[in-house]
Amino acid sequence: MKDFKIVTGMKEFASFQQFANEEHLGIDDLILTNAYIYEPAIARLDLSCQTLFQEEFGAGEPTDVMVDGILQSLRGRKYRRIIAVGGGTVIDIAKVLAVAQRDDTVDAMYGRMAALQKEHPLILVPTTCGTGSEATNIAILNRTRKGIKVGLVSPAMFAEKAALIPELLASLPYPVFATSSIDAMIHAVESYLSPNACALSEVFSERALQLILRGWKITVNCGGPEGWKGQALEFLRASNFAGIAFGHAGCGAVHALSYPLGGVHHIPHGQANQLMFADVMRKYQEKKPVGKLNRLQELLSAALCSTPERALDELYGLMDKVMKKTPLRMHGVTEEELPVFARNVLNTQQRLLENNYVELLEDDILDIYRRAF
Ligand SMILES: [Fe+2]
Repeated sequence: MKDFKIVTGMKEFASFQQFANEEHLGIDDLILTNAYIYEPAIARLDLSCQTLFQEEFGAGEPTDVMVDGILQSLRGRKYRRIIAVGGGTVIDIAKVLAVAQRDDTVDAMYGRMAALQKEHPLILVPTTCGTGSEATNIAILNRTRKGIKVGLVSPAMFAEKAALIPELLASLPYPVFATSSIDAMIHAVESYLSPNACALSEVFSERALQLILRGWKITVNCGGPEGWKGQALEFLRASNFAGIAFGHAGCGAVHALSYPLGGVHHIPHGQANQLMFADVMRKYQEKKPVGKLNRLQELLSAALCSTPERALDELYGLMDKVMKKTPLRMHGVTEEELPVFARNVLNTQQRLLENNYVELLEDDILDIYRRAF
């Protein structure tokens, strides 16, 4: 088992202005972000930083084509630090840029993954409360030319620093809040159940779960769609803690099974995870009802004022109120695709499947897809 380490320096700031002052952002810095984040929150600060807007290179989650386009546009530009301000897409792309050489391509970087080195210091500023990507050293890219969604991982891809700034979450639309906080909750659960968890990573998983469940209860009980905003800092911390936990222990079957849904049907990452979550957990319960799952049930029961036996159902119910879960077929998935997905997951997602609470065979995976269908 690897040592538990937090490589990235984490700090909370009250505003982007405070962060910019403290980090002395200037002409040598490249801010990678989206125009809809830059215009309201950063442009008015009159920083002399260089900028690059991710959406000019493609929409949606990061792809090889998108990153190759950005790499090409950066050739000839001089900058030292990369400051990524955005959701999972922007942050994952920034991690790749930080280890890219001048004439690099995505395919070349996957080809020499073990030898990647830091080319630019990296500061990550998340603007959603889900991926926890600011705390990890992995970027998930859709390799469209190969038809798979797979991680680029390297110790060199850890950021030097991450900044948590709750003011940047203020304009987050409710569906993005919902899917990203669901993603963070699933990071906490999967990292907790992983055989690679340790006592220290469990502290981060547990705290993330507590913060998310408390924040969700406030959101659905008294706040309405805006109710979560009073908890923005807590959700940001929860996402970060869950990121630290899964950076150590890994995610498992929920993430593995959700990848074909994102790769083929473009279902957003957090939502794809939600579609898989309950049926993966039910399969775990069937295959290994006694084990660490019971500690998770106890943890959930304390947070949800339930009994351990009822805790997972309570969790599914609360998550349904945050965002209604729908069957896979409503997202364009066909029954014929399910065996293809099951085989594809076994062939390409072993990195995640190794972190499962209990081993899942091809029939188990197909059964999970069928139940969720
Ligand atoms: Fe995730």
